Amino acid sequence: MENLDELRDDLLSQVKAADLEALEDLRVLALGRSGTITEMVKGIGQLKPEDRRSAGQQLNVLKNTIADAIDARKEVLEAEALDAGLAADRIDVTLPQRPASAGRIHPISQTIDEMVAIFCEMGFTVAEGPHIETDFNNFTALNIPPEHPARQDHDTFYLPAGEDGERKVLRTHTSPVQIRTMVNEKPPIRIVVPGRTFRADHDATHSPMFHQIEGLVIDKATHMGHLRGCLEEFCRAFFDVDDLPVRFRPSYFPFTEPSAEVDIGCSREGGGLKIGAGAEWLEILGCGMVNPRVLENCGINPMQYQGFAFGLGIERAAMLKYGIPDLRTFYDSDIRWLKHYGFVPLDVPNVAAGLVG
Ligand code: PHE
Repeated sequence: MENLDELRDDLLSQVKAADLEALEDLRVLALGRSGTITEMVKGIGQLKPEDRRSAGQQLNVLKNTIADAIDARKEVLEAEALDAGLAADRIDVTLPQRPASAGRIHPISQTIDEMVAIFCEMGFTVAEGPHIETDFNNFTALNIPPEHPARQDHDTFYLPAGEDGERKVLRTHTSPVQIRTMVNEKPPIRIVVPGRTFRADHDATHSPMFHQIEGLVIDKATHMGHLRGCLEEFCRAFFDVDDLPVRFRPSYFPFTEPSAEVDIGCSREGGGLKIGAGAEWLEILGCGMVNPRVLENCGINPMQYQGFAFGLGIERAAMLKYGIPDLRTFYDSDIRWLKHYGFVPLDVPNVAAGLVG
């Protein structure tokens, strides 16, 4: 039975080279129901009786040798596969986390959110209007007729005249939204209007595009005490200084009478600017009682209704609150600037300063 040794060696070398799949094929080919060795066992009956016993023993040995070799090879291959899987899926829990690069909220958006939140708590709602305005809404209805000197102060951007000869303007302030609201809504009115405004002016402290927030309150008995209380409360809440000194100085705007400018206290000791009680004042907003002529221009009876209005620059307020030194940097779109001065967005709305990472 020399060929049995040959068969064994051949099968063993095949087992040695097989992968897991080939190994199962091999098992079927050698030991399966019609496998090579199984067929030989079945053939024992045809041998001479005296040869049967030793043939049976040899085939049994061969069968066991091959089965054992297949099992051993299978074990090795399975262990190898497991090791490879573990190595590939390995997680290094000591690695530092990847930096999460979340966007930042621009200081102008943040400041608008903060201001709107303060006024909304006082019962104001938000109104908006278009950047391109009629001359009437931006000037005439606000008691600034064509020959009025206040028009020169505004450095207006005019659009080319339309077919009807009308020249529209880029709104020079948010005040035209006062007009739009009073024309379209009945008092009581209590709105704030954040938005973009435009003036042909460009230097270190002026940008041709900037932001304002306007306020308007119209009701039957709204008086100057309300104006004072509202703006004092706003300044203290916005700058987060409870005892912030707030001063009203007489001023002039064509659309308010009387008019005032509001200053807040500050000090400049030690070089830095500090908002709060101190030796100096900073102008922060313009305001006044709505001029009866403006009410009339909007179809509101000034004998029945009165109210107040105010307007302030958002960039300036943001610069003061957050110590941003240069107005022009707001519009440079410099990502490093935004990383420094921007705000981390949170799920909680209007969580203000102090949380920048
Ligand atoms: N519209 C004025 C400005 O741009 C600000 C203002 C608004 C003043 C409302 C009084 C009342 O300077």
